[in-house]
Amino acid sequence: MNKVKSLNRKDLLGLKELTLEEIKLILKTAHSMKEVAARPIPKVPTLLGKHIITLFYEASTRTRTSFNMAAKILSANITNIAVASSSIVKGENLIDTIKNLEVMGVDAIIMRHSMAGAPHLAAKHCNISIINAGDGFDEHPTQGLLDIFTMQEKKGSLKNKKVVIVGDILHSRVARSNIWGLTKLGAKVVVVGPPTMIPKDIEEMGAMVSYDLDREIRDADFINMLRIQKERQEKGLFPSIEEYAALYGLNAERMKQAKKDVVVMHPGPINRGVELTSEVADGPYNVILEQVTNGVAVRTALLFLLLGGKNSH
Ligand code: CP
Repeated sequence: MNKVKSLNRKDLLGLKELTLEEIKLILKTAHSMKEVAARPIPKVPTLLGKHIITLFYEASTRTRTSFNMAAKILSANITNIAVASSSIVKGENLIDTIKNLEVMGVDAIIMRHSMAGAPHLAAKHCNISIINAGDGFDEHPTQGLLDIFTMQEKKGSLKNKKVVIVGDILHSRVARSNIWGLTKLGAKVVVVGPPTMIPKDIEEMGAMVSYDLDREIRDADFINMLRIQKERQEKGLFPSIEEYAALYGLNAERMKQAKKDVVVMHPGPINRGVELTSEVADGPYNVILEQVTNGVAVRTALLFLLLGGKNSH
């Protein structure tokens, strides 16, 4: 591996705060890490002796597992805290939890929380690295980075490429991280969904708004389908799942309007039959499992740059 620079920051809280140069550095490093992850023995000693914690207040399959794999590729120790069997259930608050982990000698905490801003609060109250693995409606920065990495693998430069993000934009931290990152890279981002699921401030972030999926997919380079987040919805924001799927779901018939080289993405987990039919989810345009593979490379790059990039190999 060539000598690489480090990220000159303690935490990774969102793509909003990253500069274009920092995003490019993470993406470039992720290419090297993808090569490392594919080796017969995927291991480098960069983070030997470092101790990383995952602290997830919400469920995860992809993010937590890929961070575990990333830490192990870099030879770090990693401990997963199961919130349900921790002292959090006795009422210990977030700041006390973070401070107690810090004094044990932990180097970084990767956290997921239902409250937007929780990682920012944690970061202010400790001297160790906090990595946001998803906070409420706010951001999911490593998902944004792995989506962008996958898009660049498929089509190179994203300048002026049209990315259509479809679905529950209101509740989607994935949408926000995609928009922050993609607009910095010069992509044209259009969000599509029912009016009740499009937040009023989304255009201020640099995205365009549309309610017509059929019109937007015709010249799209990428279609990023989002999960309907039933767990974050306080009230019914659309009449029925069937009506939602008819207007905003991607099916084989609708895909006939899209360009032949369009790329269909989804962060997972998929509600099959709602935002995507299985025919599309498993069809020729999809890169959904490639996104998951790339999550390991991107998260390895991030840990490398945040915690150990100064000692290159
Ligand atoms: N995309 C994503 O964040 O998946 P998990 O919830 O399984 O981590």
